[in-house]
Amino acid sequence: MNKRILVTGGLGYIGSHTVIALHENNYEVVIVDNLSNSDKSFLKKITDITGKSPDFECFDLTDLIPLKRFFDTHPIDGIIHFAAFKAVRESVKIPLKYYYNNLVSLIQLLQEFQARGLDNFIFSSSCTVYGQADKLPIKEDAPLKPLESPYGSTKQMSEQILRDYANIHIKKVVSLRYFNPIGAHLSIKIGEFPLGIPQNLVPFITQTAIGMHPKLSIFGGDYNTKDGTAIRDYIHVYDLAKAHVAALSRLLRGKNRSSFEVFNLGTGRGHSVLEVVKAFERILNKSFDYQIIDRRSGDIEAAYADTSLAEKELGWKAEISLEEALQTAWAWEKKIASDKEKF
Ligand code: NAD
Ligand code: WQD
Repeated sequence: MNKRILVTGGLGYIGSHTVIALHENNYEVVIVDNLSNSDKSFLKKITDITGKSPDFECFDLTDLIPLKRFFDTHPIDGIIHFAAFKAVRESVKIPLKYYYNNLVSLIQLLQEFQARGLDNFIFSSSCTVYGQADKLPIKEDAPLKPLESPYGSTKQMSEQILRDYANIHIKKVVSLRYFNPIGAHLSIKIGEFPLGIPQNLVPFITQTAIGMHPKLSIFGGDYNTKDGTAIRDYIHVYDLAKAHVAALSRLLRGKNRSSFEVFNLGTGRGHSVLEVVKAFERILNKSFDYQIIDRRSGDIEAAYADTSLAEKELGWKAEISLEEALQTAWAWEKKIASDKEKF
């Protein structure tokens, strides 16, 4: 019998790509999503790509009654927990919204897990937990720094909750710390839908290229980096999705080395903002309008992953280059624009 996996937030950006990767590896999937930052049309798109329909339950994970009902009626072999709010700047303005959604969802899921003797929990964490690391590339044992955003704090707190839970109940838990996910599925049938004006670099670049913004503002040209702009590790979303399948398989086969494990998911390569812009110009085959302005508050100078632990333990490595990832992001932006024109 195929294993049945609960994917919370499975209609969101990373979740939907991961559902595809799970289908491709013969897992049965049941998605729980409240559609607070996603669209139900992604269900059909997933089916178009994989030929399989995931089950779907629409409710809010902070709502205990449907959550209990869900577990009463759905046997599962593991969970990948993506559902969370993720807008860093909004979290500074409305911290309780973030603490409530991200922490209450997690705690209630764990309580149900524990009550029902379930196991195998994969959590979406973030490189944001490191703050500005002292050493690059960043290893998993780098100290976690105090953070400026409540969003980032929810990731640090969630990891602590999971660590304590896994240790005392002897459960298998993996926390995956994503670096900067970008791009769209190679079919260009699904991708990212940022709400409002995107805060993240790549959707802002593609929206600017399609004419939605006059130009890109690069935040900071005076960092201590090769060209003065900040450095990040941009990883294609489908590479990221495949790492979840690798982590799940490790847990299901009991290959974990401890009850709580942490892995960095990045490419291991750092690119400056200007390098991303130049790579995008090569795709457009023309120059791209930008200005360099002051640093954005809360930003760090440089972050990229040491991925050797994930390579060794998960047998996983990112394969898609920055340029290919940007190509998919650009193709997706054009697809959104042409779909809008049709309606
Ligand atoms: P997303 O917003 O596209 O997906 C999250 C999904 O969860 C959405 O479909 C939303 O409707 C759902 N959701 C949120 N709260 C819910 C709740 N209480 N009950 C049910 N459903 C709920 O975000 P994403 O980019 O796919 O991120 C997925 C996870 O990865 C998040 O935990 C995020 O913090 C983490 N992460 C994202 C990034 C990134 O840059 N995208 C980087 C590091 C970590
Ligand atoms: C990348 C670089 C910006 C927009 C965020 C979250 C973090 C994690 C990953 C979830 C930075 C620069 C951006 C623009 C720019 N997400 N930039 N002009 O800041 O690394 O991290 O996503 O866990 O928590 O904070 O990603 O894409 O916003 O920025 O110059 O219009 O691009 O300053 O150097 P970031 P990003």
